[in-house]
Amino acid sequence: MQINYPRLLADLRQLATFGQVGTGVHRLSFTSEDREARHWLLQRMTEAGLDAQIDGIGNVYGQTKGVNKAVLIGSHTDSVPKGGWLDGAMGVLYGLELARARLEAGDLTDLGIDVISFADEEGTYRALAGSLSFCGHLSEADFAATTNQLGKTLHAVLLEAGYAGRPRVTLDPSRHVAYLEGHIEQGPRLEVEGKKIGVVTGIVGIRRLQVTCTGQADHAGTTPMHLRKDAGSALIKYCHDLIRRFEQIRGANSVWNFGQVMFEPGAGNVVPSAARVLIEFRDATEATIDRMQAEIQAAVTTADGQGGVNVQATELIRVSPAEMDANLAALIETAARARGASTLRMPSGAGHDAMVLSRHVSTAMLFIPSIGGRSHDIAEDTDEADICLGIEVLADTVRALNQKA
Ligand code: GLV
Ligand code: MN
Ligand code: MN
Repeated sequence: MQINYPRLLADLRQLATFGQVGTGVHRLSFTSEDREARHWLLQRMTEAGLDAQIDGIGNVYGQTKGVNKAVLIGSHTDSVPKGGWLDGAMGVLYGLELARARLEAGDLTDLGIDVISFADEEGTYRALAGSLSFCGHLSEADFAATTNQLGKTLHAVLLEAGYAGRPRVTLDPSRHVAYLEGHIEQGPRLEVEGKKIGVVTGIVGIRRLQVTCTGQADHAGTTPMHLRKDAGSALIKYCHDLIRRFEQIRGANSVWNFGQVMFEPGAGNVVPSAARVLIEFRDATEATIDRMQAEIQAAVTTADGQGGVNVQATELIRVSPAEMDANLAALIETAARARGASTLRMPSGAGHDAMVLSRHVSTAMLFIPSIGGRSHDIAEDTDEADICLGIEVLADTVRALNQKA
């Protein structure tokens, strides 16, 4: 297998033109730019000789023809708002380039390479929706119950995209011997420690809750302070209390984020009738995540009813911490070292489709450095030489799997 670096890099640059914003991309799931990118990928997979399709949830899946066993390689091609060009995209195009290189090498008796771009990893509708569907965890009923922040259902957007009703591709335990995902680190550790390849040991658990305060809209100039049912101020006080609580019980690597706040009706001269915040928190240990969630609830109990405002919390996302396959991780590490690349065993603080796949098939991830540790922003970038090193290490890992098969 001979990797064609200019072709890989050109594909990455071309994929980045769909939803391009400066040096990054704004490619939210199922928007026209996301769909166009999926269609482009479908064509690329077909040209590469794969049996390719876009399935009933938008997963783009290319299967190697004429083999019974294959390594599955992929990630996602949707992005966060104003995100980076490599987050997810690189792992998918690693798979595409490896599948192409395998076919060009002409040895068609070995393990195949199946490629996938999972839909909505970033959770515009449902975080990890594509991989959850692929592993049999998402029903048609979930499609109707899952909405974006504007209340549009996953079912409605799939209809609009023309994906609804198509068959959904699924993991085939008799075919897929392993799942490999290459990804940028999205944090600073590799760069700070001067290492080239991150060998992922596990992925943190993630929960997301929405806390809603409900009060009453009133004139912001005429209503005396003591008569207001001010949902906005109640939410701000709630968040302060919660930060104090989190700081007291946090684990060494716990993180949390107040990622979105909305006030209704949202005017400078109206007392907010409702206020909502999205709170996401992560840790490698489920017990710590449980403790953090208990604090969210305790803070709700304290705040509820104060100043005439009702407060409640709703859980939106729950993903347990995941461990990567130790044997597969060791293959990546050995492959990297054999190329003279320095390695670092590390947990992932970012979520990945690998966390869903790991519960069903041997799964491993490889990281390459992110410049300045930046990601989930258009500033995200990685040296081309590191992108090329990453795919070579992945190629060697596939070769090692071939020898075992
Ligand atoms: C995925 O990018 C996540 O960690 O939220
Ligand atoms: Mn991301
Ligand atoms: Mn990603």
